[in-house]
Amino acid sequence: MTRPVVFVGRRIPQVGLDILAQHTDVRVHSGALPPTRSELLTGVQGVDGILSLLSDRMDGEVFDAAGPQLKVVGNFAVGFNNIDVEAAKQRRIAVGNTPGVLTDATADIAVALMMGAARRLKEGWTAVDQRQWRTWEPLGWIGLDMKGKTLGIIGMGRIGQAVAQRLHGGWGMQVLYTSRQPKPEVDRTMNARRVEVDELLASSDFISIHVALNEGTRHSINAAAFDKMKSTAVVVNTARGEVVDQAALIDALKNNRIFAAGLDVCEPEPLPDSSPLRQLVNCLLVPHIGSATVTARNAMAERAARNVVAGIMGEPLPYPVY
Ligand code: NAP
Ligand code: GLV
Repeated sequence: MTRPVVFVGRRIPQVGLDILAQHTDVRVHSGALPPTRSELLTGVQGVDGILSLLSDRMDGEVFDAAGPQLKVVGNFAVGFNNIDVEAAKQRRIAVGNTPGVLTDATADIAVALMMGAARRLKEGWTAVDQRQWRTWEPLGWIGLDMKGKTLGIIGMGRIGQAVAQRLHGGWGMQVLYTSRQPKPEVDRTMNARRVEVDELLASSDFISIHVALNEGTRHSINAAAFDKMKSTAVVVNTARGEVVDQAALIDALKNNRIFAAGLDVCEPEPLPDSSPLRQLVNCLLVPHIGSATVTARNAMAERAARNVVAGIMGEPLPYPVY
């Protein structure tokens, strides 16, 4: 009997490949970089399942290139903005993701970026690296305090809540948040307050972005939003680069409309060498490493693989997107 075939967009932790290999023949794109569009369209031909990476756009063209036997796409990520879910639905292709298992890892990176941006770690590190560190500086590299400040969480989902827990519990921050519906448990446990976005922007010392990327959130943090923020605000984005209007962010950082930004995500990834975000001393940028811990990545691989196997077997996905 022929075994089903799965295309995997890049090498992922072995635990995921082992699960797939128990049930399927696994076709891994072996390059260090994502497949080109043409490699992707060729690589998926004839497969029954795709284990996709967030760097690969999964749309009708890819599904059609795979063929009508394609049953499932399992994203190796919780965010699924790279997948055209409507196109998948139309073709009765199941779609899964990996919620929950990267919440703590990503929340930790958000806090790290917040602290690093507030305390000017990029400037300090650059001074050391470029031999500009001459003495202990009584007036040098002075940053912002965090204790007792106001934290604004844009998108109080899993990661937003985990960030708020850390900063409310550890630094005694007052928590404001935006959400499409009330979250009484969050209000009760963190003494948090759900507010309109304008109040959050104007009142927060630290703003951390955690909304999913979709047409409702794309470029929602724009010039008008930066204009409402305190000039001492620190903005952290670990969600998706496209939630922020990057030209407006660059403008706000260049003109000190805000104090600093800490970014795990940007648009596009990687940023071109010429992007001002690479040069600006008040922009601390890391290469989308929110989930990059052993525990999180292994668990993501396992969940993504289980989704793909279930879809191929015609069973409900354990972690479905729809
Ligand atoms: P989640 O629990 O689903 O939270 C997503 C939040 O987005 C929800 O609170 C939801 O608001 C909000 N949202 C979605 N669409 C919205 C809209 N149109 N308008 C307003 N709010 C909207 O997801 P999560 O696990 O916390 O992950 C959040 C995001 O982080 C992911 O989608 C992904 O893009 C990103 N992420 C990045 C990394 C990284 O490595 N940097 C790692 C993991 C995740 P409601 O509460 O109102 O429904
Ligand atoms: C990472 O960015 C994810 O969405 O899992």
